[in-house]
Amino acid sequence: MPSTAEVRGALIVFEGCDHSGKTTQCKKLVAALNEKGIKTEAMRFPDRTTTIGKMIDGYLSNKCEIEDHSVHLLFSANRWEMVPKMKSMLEAGTTLIVDRYAFSGVAFTAAKEGFDMNWCKQPDVGLPKPDRVIYLTLSTEEAAARGTFGKERYEQTEFQQKVSTNFEKLKDPTWQEVEADKSIEDLHREILVITQNIIEESGHKPLQQLWS
Ligand code: TMP
Repeated sequence: MPSTAEVRGALIVFEGCDHSGKTTQCKKLVAALNEKGIKTEAMRFPDRTTTIGKMIDGYLSNKCEIEDHSVHLLFSANRWEMVPKMKSMLEAGTTLIVDRYAFSGVAFTAAKEGFDMNWCKQPDVGLPKPDRVIYLTLSTEEAAARGTFGKERYEQTEFQQKVSTNFEKLKDPTWQEVEADKSIEDLHREILVITQNIIEESGHKPLQQLWS
């Protein structure tokens, strides 16, 4: 069990549309922060390694069908099962860089027919609230120029446009929009400066609860 540090780690979440470079930037950021001596770990949701995560993986790769409400709750359960680990790492002073979180949960399910955004938020109420959401934005044209979609569920242009509209509705003052339409290195440098500031600001503030 890690001990409690004087200064807690920051909880920083990356959200954004497909092809925005989230995963690449998260990896580069974790490596750069650790190099600077800032203890940092990567997390991603869904975490496909757990029992719940394996069910989600089967659903996303179209190997099985799961009713829409049920799969929404599984995505949320996949976050809740990580909360004890997240809290103990943050308390021990480790900064967490998280690739997708509850905002993806809401934005994706609410893009389906018959889903209300408020209903979608409920299972994630009370999760650790990110100190900052870094929202990577990219025009639809630029996203398309970066390649075609893969074979996973949800990887269709029309659906992704609805998801982007939902992200816009979820934005609040803890979100920081970053234009992703630049080189990997330029974007990395910009994000590194932003995150170092967040880590400094968050260390002495108590961790809050999401949507409560
Ligand atoms: P990934 O490509 O980042 O692994 O994400 C897998 C897919 O799951 C992606 O299309 C977004 C979707 N998703 C949800 O539908 N609900 C969620 O809660 C999360 C975290 C992701």
